[in-house]
Amino acid sequence: MEAKDRIVLALDVDTAEEALGLVDKLNQHVGVFKIGMQLYNGIGPDIVHRVHDLGGKVFLDLKLHDIPNTVASAARVLTRLNAFMFNVHAAGGREMMSQAAQACRVQADRLGTPAPLLLAVTVLTSISGQELKDDMYITGLNVEELVVKWALMAQESGLGGVVCSPQEIAPIRSACGPDFKIVTPGIRPLWSAANDQKRITTPRQALDQGADYMVIGRPIVQADDPVTAAQRIIEELEAE
Ligand code: C5P
Repeated sequence: MEAKDRIVLALDVDTAEEALGLVDKLNQHVGVFKIGMQLYNGIGPDIVHRVHDLGGKVFLDLKLHDIPNTVASAARVLTRLNAFMFNVHAAGGREMMSQAAQACRVQADRLGTPAPLLLAVTVLTSISGQELKDDMYITGLNVEELVVKWALMAQESGLGGVVCSPQEIAPIRSACGPDFKIVTPGIRPLWSAANDQKRITTPRQALDQGADYMVIGRPIVQADDPVTAAQRIIEELEAE
């Protein structure tokens, strides 16, 4: 995969104009555009078609989590949008993930399109080990052990990969093997501000640890020159 194709640009904006302006400007410099709940819920499914019309690939970051039948039905209709990838919460459980994966495959078969890459969100990086114990009553496993178990459950359920923090790339890669896709946010080149991200890693470190895709927002979007920022990241990924 080319370095550019590993970069997933987070379209964390409210309006279609802002989002499509970014797609237009950066389409030759990043591989995928992430449409999250802010943009999708504000604009609706049409935003996916409009990014496609400009030639962009889409990661639909809607983090589905409900009973298996409901998530499978949503997965079926989302597959019709032809996103390159979308995601569900591993916390929804094995049956929910299996039914969602199955719904994607059946719908894609019917349409004659490639099935989207279905990813599981493991433990949100905003949840600390302490919260896991004190508020969620998950004891006996630390965050990393839980994340690896959930990544394996996602793989056994027929999903193609996970979204995880940079800290967990290496243990997931070793547990789930080379073909399981790993997508990671919390990426900061050394020359950019950390913003509110805490446990960060550089694009190059994420790649070296085994990440396939890196979700990057503000270091590119808020740079004085977003194209130059994306190019600097590509050069860092390509360096020997
Ligand atoms: O601007 P920044 O590079 O921090 O954007 C990262 C993107 O990845 C945002 O869309 C954010 O919601 C998302 N994300 C994250 N941490 C997670 C999951 C998603 O930063 N654990």
